Amino acid sequence: AMNDLLDRLSANVQAQRRFVADAAHQLKTPLAGLRTQAELALRDASPEEMQSSLRQLVTGSERATRLVNQLLLLARAENPSAIGLTRTDINAIAYEQTMHWVPLALSLNTDLGFEGADTPVEINGNPLLLAELLNNLVDNALRYTPRGGHITVRVLQADGQGILEVEDSGPGIAPDERERVFDRFYRVLGTTSDGSGLGLAIVREITQKHQANVEIGDHPTEHSDLPGTRIRVVFPLYTPPPDTLDS
Ligand SMILES: Nc1ncnc2c1ncn2[C@@H]1O[C@H](COP(=O)(O)OP(=O)(O)O)[C@@H](O)[C@H]1O
Ligand SMILES: [Mg+2]
Repeated sequence: AMNDLLDRLSANVQAQRRFVADAAHQLKTPLAGLRTQAELALRDASPEEMQSSLRQLVTGSERATRLVNQLLLLARAENPSAIGLTRTDINAIAYEQTMHWVPLALSLNTDLGFEGADTPVEINGNPLLLAELLNNLVDNALRYTPRGGHITVRVLQADGQGILEVEDSGPGIAPDERERVFDRFYRVLGTTSDGSGLGLAIVREITQKHQANVEIGDHPTEHSDLPGTRIRVVFPLYTPPPDTLDS
């Protein structure tokens, strides 16, 4: 048993090392980009050119900040002692978070809908991590679905489970990619929109923390000839901890 424990600890340390190495590598590219943009801005002759270079610099630093935030979130979600689970209504969280995306969806001419449950859907959850999970799914749906697409966020309760779904009318994720897209830093070949490949790794980490399952499927619709994507997260429903029963 002691050997098992040591093996697991050493596997953990190795995984941490690999993560830090990967993270450092991922940060080098945006940092090099920032530096190039700053150098170009210094060389620009006219105020207009400089304005445009500086704007790119701002966008670039926003992207780098997002990457750092995602890396921190992943590191935090990985640490089991750092997350507390409480009685949490995923219906309310999903509604609230979806509303934050409405302005962006409108600007992309994309129909973003919410289909909630009629009653609260309560799970043992961490509200901040659950919001992050959903935001990563909606971010992807908006990012990869062509303008004018259809996206639905849905919450339901069925068979003693809480279910969260995000569907889009976009290009889909091919069956042989559906496992790998959850790997850190993995992006499907030919993916053009910029990103870090961390979004779904964070989603998987958070689902594991909630004893939930996540699966990717197709989602063909009448709105589009594309295969579409449906990502479904299935949570066990809230059960009161045993010690609160005996009072
Ligand atoms: N809704 C979606 N539709 C099509 N492809 C998707 C969708 N969500 C994720 N993907 C694919 O999975 C890859 C990994 O997603 P993710 O981990 O969020 O990283 P990122 O979005 O930063 O590339 C994406 O690069 C994209 O190729
Ligand atoms: Mg993403």
